[in-house]
Amino acid sequence: MIRTGTVSYFFRDQKGLECALDSVDWSANPKIWSAGCSAGQEPFTIAIMLAERITVWKFKNLRIFATDIVEKFGQRIATGTYKETEVNAVKTNEENEHLFKKYFEILDDGRYEVIPEIRRKVVFARNDVLVDEPISDNFEMISCKNVFEYFNIEEKQRVYRKFYDVLRPEGILMIDPKQRNKEYEPPGNLFERICKDCVERVYRKR
Ligand SMILES: C[S@@+](CC[C@H](N)C(=O)[O-])C[C@H]1O[C@@H](n2cnc3c(N)ncnc32)[C@H](O)[C@@H]1O
Repeated sequence: MIRTGTVSYFFRDQKGLECALDSVDWSANPKIWSAGCSAGQEPFTIAIMLAERITVWKFKNLRIFATDIVEKFGQRIATGTYKETEVNAVKTNEENEHLFKKYFEILDDGRYEVIPEIRRKVVFARNDVLVDEPISDNFEMISCKNVFEYFNIEEKQRVYRKFYDVLRPEGILMIDPKQRNKEYEPPGNLFERICKDCVERVYRKR
């Protein structure tokens, strides 16, 4: 049962994502999980940021597993096309404008398409983080933003434990700023909060 909204946009929670991606110790075959990925805006943002950060060779081997409880998001991810409101934070922000020019194409109908080099990095699967088994393990990073807000405390803690089990040692977990109450946060014996100067919550697996 979906209890969250489904709205998303490119470069949401940008500072936290930058901080998280800069804290990862990248392996030769990096794996990321974007859990609650909506229509792909978050995993494609991560792929764009990584194209700018890691070596060509590591980027070639990068895989981003994007999952959501809504199956139809798979089709939108496959087409990789978005409307103005979804790309505004990359298109109209001076800091990001060059990324918009580099990684998006404008279609005849006025929508925007993520270039194939970025689209190829993201693989979608339907997955309910509350009940389904994780789709892989040994992740360098898991991003689960703006998903936890309608989970109760027991569910949040259960999902944190699930993420802990499939992150590689010292792997990075990113959630959104709304989980700042002590009882909503990941347990301190499992995760240590890093990047304390950004509002998003970024943790390293202990
Ligand atoms: C508000 S959107 C956030 C999208 C993106 N993570 C972001 O930060 O922009 C929340 C997403 O979580 C998904 N979702 C809700 N409950 C879920 C669950 N139990 N398992 C997986 N995804 C879920 C929704 O379908 C929706 O796409």
